[in-house]
Amino acid sequence: MKFKALKGIQDILPPETSGWQRIEAAAREIFKTYGFREIRLPVIESTEIFLRSIGETTDIVEKEMYTFTDKADRSVTLRPEGTAPFVRAFVEHHLFNEPPPQKFYYMGPMFRYERPQAGRQRQFHQIGVEALGVEDPKIDAEIISLLLLLLEKIGIKDAQCEVTSIGCVQCRPAFRAALKDFFKDRLGLFCDDCKRRYELNPLRILDCKVEACINGRQGAPSVIDFLCGDCTEHFNGVQYYLKLLSVPYTVNPGLVRGLDYYMRTAFEIKNYSLGAQNAVAAGGRYNGLVEEFGGPKIPGIGFAIGVERIVTLLTGLSDGHEGPDVFLCSLSSEAGEKTAVLAGQLRLEGLWVEISYDKSSLRSQMRRADRLRAKNVIVVGEDEMKSQTAVIKNMQDKTEISAALDAGEILRIIRGSK
Ligand code: HAM
Repeated sequence: MKFKALKGIQDILPPETSGWQRIEAAAREIFKTYGFREIRLPVIESTEIFLRSIGETTDIVEKEMYTFTDKADRSVTLRPEGTAPFVRAFVEHHLFNEPPPQKFYYMGPMFRYERPQAGRQRQFHQIGVEALGVEDPKIDAEIISLLLLLLEKIGIKDAQCEVTSIGCVQCRPAFRAALKDFFKDRLGLFCDDCKRRYELNPLRILDCKVEACINGRQGAPSVIDFLCGDCTEHFNGVQYYLKLLSVPYTVNPGLVRGLDYYMRTAFEIKNYSLGAQNAVAAGGRYNGLVEEFGGPKIPGIGFAIGVERIVTLLTGLSDGHEGPDVFLCSLSSEAGEKTAVLAGQLRLEGLWVEISYDKSSLRSQMRRADRLRAKNVIVVGEDEMKSQTAVIKNMQDKTEISAALDAGEILRIIRGSK
């Protein structure tokens, strides 16, 4: 085989595509009931956008971005996630002028140069929502509740919701100092990246995927113990509303997000049957990001689901491709033209219609109809053209009905026999 898709980048084939359609349809339906509107964003952005928001010491920025210079020598990056491009667009188009909360959703491919494995691709797809303009913890709980409802609607069972607060700029210095203190004597255990992170951003050590670092950070201080008064109050509020909305959740103080723009609420939905890559969705609050991008001081919160991971949890996928409603055989060129016209009219009415494209024998056309598992067959030859009638043969119950060579009549009979 000469050409293959790039490593970690997959084709999505039927019938799996039906799972994608199901997820997308469920998302659109439920987002509408919450007042979220679709936004379509470019897959490529200037690199600076991601450096500023995701953070220079994160794995994504340090190792995983598809970054290159374009022909004008500008550094551009295939988006590794959707929040930063969304906030860029939010500020660029002054979407903050709409009455808050401003609620948007997006769907599409993201790119991270990670080591491919089950549940981890280099091109993967997210469906994300972002809600801006509300500080109140009620919206945090509402967003988490929406995410769980969406998963339920898609048919995902065993979605474990883990929530934490990762504090704010007020609480970070004390937490950072405590972490440095804890890591001080263990630095030798850590990978080179983490040794560097120790100086630049020790919080990122908590997110390193190297096994030695995972072991080395056992027993590290928990951010929850360092929350300031406002963050504690906010986190209590989130939990109060989660209970009010009957959202089952656990507090996981060890939850670390791989993106620097978060503050306060962070959450992840896990499905433990997925193995190592068990997060099917994740999100959190990002109050400083709009300002960072040159906009007004507007808080935000959102999440993104990983579509590939959710599709692997769906079973019994079928794209309804079980056979055409009707196969039109033609035995002369005049009949071939008639069937081509009829096919168009019937398709307009929603029938799946197949026709013959060559001058092959009736036998070979019937064989094709059989292989396609056509539900009805109509043979149009010279006699049928003369009488302008033909027999509709139902291939399932073998009944035959004579009908005028007219789309309306054929449609009525086929619909009636369905
Ligand atoms: P994230 O946790 O980096 O968050 O990604 C969200 C989800 O995308 C993950 O939970 C996972 O299901 C999926 N995902 C991530 N990387 C891969 C991969 N390499 N292969 C397959 N699936 C993957 C964000 O991206 C944030 N922008 C979410 C957000 C929206 N926060 C606020 N608003």
